[in-house]
Amino acid sequence: MPHRRSNNGKPHPRAVVGGLLAALAMLAVPGVALAADDPLAPAGRWEGRTAGRAATPPMGWNSWNAFRTEVDEDKVIGAARVLVDSGLARLGYRYINVDDGWWLKRRQGDGRLQIRTSIFPSAATGGKDGTSFKPFTDKLHAMGLKAGIYTDIGRNACSQAYDLHSPNLPQGTTAEREVGLDGHVEQDIDLYFKEWGFDYIKIDACGLADFVPGSPLVAQQQYRAVAPLIDRGAINRTDSGAVRTRYEAVAAALKAANADGDYILSICAWGMANVRSWGKDVGNLWRTSADITPSWTSMLHNFDSAAKRALYAGPGHWNDPDILHIGHEAFDANHMVEARSHFTLWAMINAPLLISYDLRNGPASLLGVLGNAELIRLNQDKAGHQAVVAYDSDDAQILVKTLGEGDRKAVALFNRGAAPAPVVLLAGHLKLSDDAPVVLTDLWTKERLTFSGEQAFTLAPHETRVFEASGKRRLPNGVYLSEIPGSINVAVDGTRQPELDPTIHRMIDPWTGTRSGGSRAQYAGWGGAQADTTPFGQTLQIAGQSFDSGIGVLSNSRLQVRNDAGHALLMASVGVDDSSAMAGAGVRFFVYGDGKLLAESPLTVPGGGAAPITANIDGIKIVELVVRDAKPQPTPQSTRPTVATWGDVRLLTRAAAAR
Ligand code: GLA
Repeated sequence: MPHRRSNNGKPHPRAVVGGLLAALAMLAVPGVALAADDPLAPAGRWEGRTAGRAATPPMGWNSWNAFRTEVDEDKVIGAARVLVDSGLARLGYRYINVDDGWWLKRRQGDGRLQIRTSIFPSAATGGKDGTSFKPFTDKLHAMGLKAGIYTDIGRNACSQAYDLHSPNLPQGTTAEREVGLDGHVEQDIDLYFKEWGFDYIKIDACGLADFVPGSPLVAQQQYRAVAPLIDRGAINRTDSGAVRTRYEAVAAALKAANADGDYILSICAWGMANVRSWGKDVGNLWRTSADITPSWTSMLHNFDSAAKRALYAGPGHWNDPDILHIGHEAFDANHMVEARSHFTLWAMINAPLLISYDLRNGPASLLGVLGNAELIRLNQDKAGHQAVVAYDSDDAQILVKTLGEGDRKAVALFNRGAAPAPVVLLAGHLKLSDDAPVVLTDLWTKERLTFSGEQAFTLAPHETRVFEASGKRRLPNGVYLSEIPGSINVAVDGTRQPELDPTIHRMIDPWTGTRSGGSRAQYAGWGGAQADTTPFGQTLQIAGQSFDSGIGVLSNSRLQVRNDAGHALLMASVGVDDSSAMAGAGVRFFVYGDGKLLAESPLTVPGGGAAPITANIDGIKIVELVVRDAKPQPTPQSTRPTVATWGDVRLLTRAAAAR
């Protein structure tokens, strides 16, 4: 078997600057031979997804929350006009996405999809093709906008299971009503992108979940049954690998159909099938939860499903807690506090900003919320660092988002509850010094406020205050990795099997109410890599020493870090975290640079104290951080991986390194 070898201790041929760097370059690092198929072997190249056109989170409008299947051309073009006329398009809202309801049938003989021209009259182009969306997408493009379409990864779509009363369901024979991608991936993707000129596709997954053999739905509607790959009730009965493979086939077809790379793939598997872990490798955005409804607790549920996944998102790939519900019920013009909170939270966690109410009839006050240019700037910041939770509780949270490379921060104080909340913001939450003033600018009111050390606030029920913050960095000449999650790709997170995340708000189910034993945890991903906490949400701590900065991982994990800012040194204090349930024989930490071993920790054991690790990364593009079990764990134990802490892991400049 071929082996990828380390550099066998030879110093890397790159400029060495003063002091510590020079000393490090002389260090002989013992080499380890790595099998080529070892997932922990350094790749030496960035593996985070960059295909498609999603360098920043997508923005625009989607028809679903506004009209469900009762979408039509006037409604969509009307929304597009408001975006252009109100100036929202100029602020970035450019994608106009038609959701479920547009199709008539799949024509038999050639398999070509036909559009329901009674609702999209411009599609009645006639001729051999029958119908075409080209006039529609031409119109949107002429308005300076982009066009999005909707389909399903299986044979049938969600409306065919959940909107049976709809006047706009596909019609005809069983085969004619099979409008999803299954069996037609290349044909449909070519049609949507090459012929019809769409730029964005949302791909739902009901076709893999809801057309269950023997079910009343299949019998009554005469659908072809499919043994479900997604069991909505159980991750263990879901074939996550097969679901991923289906989406990978579409990703390949999209790449082939879009030579210019101008497309967006939105995976809509509602947080199921462990998509919160692999979505980033396949699509540009992936739903992390069930559909949002216009209630406060649904918003909490969807927010939570993405808020602690900062390390899984970055330029090109974004957590998707669903389209906005601003404009409806708990987020309508009579609930401006809630509407602003919903928008602020989505902006802070780099969620796609897809408006979804009838813009033609909406109040101006809501356009003001959606048009807050400061919040859009946060969301669209090119560095792509999702906010990290700096203070966590069920009552209130503090979220901190790094802008650019770390000189500027945004902070949101979020009152989740229905009572006023006392929230004290510490300079430390922002990783700023206590001994210098911190300047806050309120991004709703533009008011400025200066404090040192800490500042107390009282938040109204459901209120979110959001500020841009500046001050003296606690770490001058460098950046903590937990400040730059968008520059990190979790290549291997070390989870041994998908585990359900218990930290997501469990609302009363909007569809079934309390007709069950309770709302259960639904989404896998628990145990994934975390910024500033362990993978299970505990304080990072090695042999009694706690770290408020760091990256928490499981053993047998590999993280990639893009060294875009050209830092020269990586330093950390590493070890087995005190929260480890099953610490085994200990772990070793390795730092690679562009595929070569740069530094290695000694064996670290439970309670054994933090080991310093330092690597010269001067001139390195991709740093990889690997933690390995010292000994393979016996099978029964291997489901409880060791928790490993990269304490205070940071990148430092040449100036700092030279000291
Ligand atoms: C699913 C999706 C929604 C919407 C509907 C359409 O429920 O999650 O976002 O696309 O299907 O039927």
